[in-house]
Amino acid sequence: MPEVHVSHLSKQFGETAVLNDIDFTINDGEFFTLLGPSGCGKSTTLNCVAGLEQPTTGAITVADTPFVDTSRRLYVPTEERNLGMVFQSYALWPHMTVQQNLAMPLSIRRVPKQEKGMRIHDALEKVGLAHLKDRFPHELSGGQQQRVALARALVYSPTVLLLDEPLSNLDAKLREQARAWLKRLQVDLGITTVYVTHDQDEALSLSDRIAVMFDGHMAQIGTPTEVYERPATAQVAAFVGSCNFFTGRFEGALGTVAQVRLDCTGDVVTVTTDAPFSVGQEVTLAVRPERLRITPARSDAAGSNVLNTEVLTCSYVGSRYEYNLRLGRNVVQVVTQDSGLAGAVRLVFEPGDALLYPGAAVPSEEAQELMTV
Ligand SMILES: Nc1ncnc2c1ncn2[C@@H]1O[C@H](COP(=O)(O)OP(=O)(O)O)[C@@H](O)[C@H]1O
Ligand SMILES: [Mg+2]
Repeated sequence: MPEVHVSHLSKQFGETAVLNDIDFTINDGEFFTLLGPSGCGKSTTLNCVAGLEQPTTGAITVADTPFVDTSRRLYVPTEERNLGMVFQSYALWPHMTVQQNLAMPLSIRRVPKQEKGMRIHDALEKVGLAHLKDRFPHELSGGQQQRVALARALVYSPTVLLLDEPLSNLDAKLREQARAWLKRLQVDLGITTVYVTHDQDEALSLSDRIAVMFDGHMAQIGTPTEVYERPATAQVAAFVGSCNFFTGRFEGALGTVAQVRLDCTGDVVTVTTDAPFSVGQEVTLAVRPERLRITPARSDAAGSNVLNTEVLTCSYVGSRYEYNLRLGRNVVQVVTQDSGLAGAVRLVFEPGDALLYPGAAVPSEEAQELMTV
């Protein structure tokens, strides 16, 4: 049974369209993430599900209960939706203890006193904070406050958990720990979760599926592996992980192996693709830094695509080396375990290591063009 169903969701603020025909279905128990740059409409989408925002058009159903259907003028108010929500700011009541913060949503729902105490204890146990129930928010660390906010969202057993950038106020190290902890909790509880973030690492590591959004549109919905390995567009490839982009012309194909002449060097390379292209069409080739190999210029480079290039810079970043190579006017990023490569080298990749997109819209061309020659 699909747990959350959002169809044809649109939202206008005055003249501005912020959401355009958004569709997605979240399965029971799934961790589903809305990922996209700031301002793309993630929070607005979540707020429409929560009932904090009224969509201009569209329908939202949770566990077979219609919450919104603009065609029937149906709108269930937020307090009747039984959804748990956590915001980036935590929004704890500062003058109330942890326990009192958790009691508030239960009082609103007229939960009997004895049950209230049990529920508060259970929720605090889940987040490992039962021993801090009498503290005030200012007596807690950022990470602890975030857990209290989560406990407060869980205390009345919501059908769905809605989380809007709940970890972004934590510093980097704490954020990583909180991420692992949150994922374990979500799996243990088996609660359907809608998570909002602009952080691609967070989305990849936490989610069962990710919806990538740009400018109020859904660009792709898929598992982390699908979104990273088979990005639907060059824009998705650029936003989720690092990627090198090269413009070129489609020259023909043998089965699913396309030949592309690169603008930057004039070389012809081969790329595996299912998409149809016409001869002479402008295309963009995308390849992840870790899918490229570097071999010394003197070696017999074995591989389908071998390009002569030269090392510009090499940085040691702990677990690996990051190289910048010159390829015509482009700078190519390569991530590898190999150290000590310098001067003239060869860049090697297989047809299946690269992706091909129609058009010559390279998402971050400025960043990749060689500024100093
Ligand atoms: N109440 C509002 N009135 C007018 N514009 C809004 C309002 N809320 C959000 N917006 C605009 O809608 C767009 C999407 O906002 P939001 O959903 O908060 O993005 P995100 O969460 O992805 O950063 C932004 O351009 C934002 O400025
Ligand atoms: Mg937001």
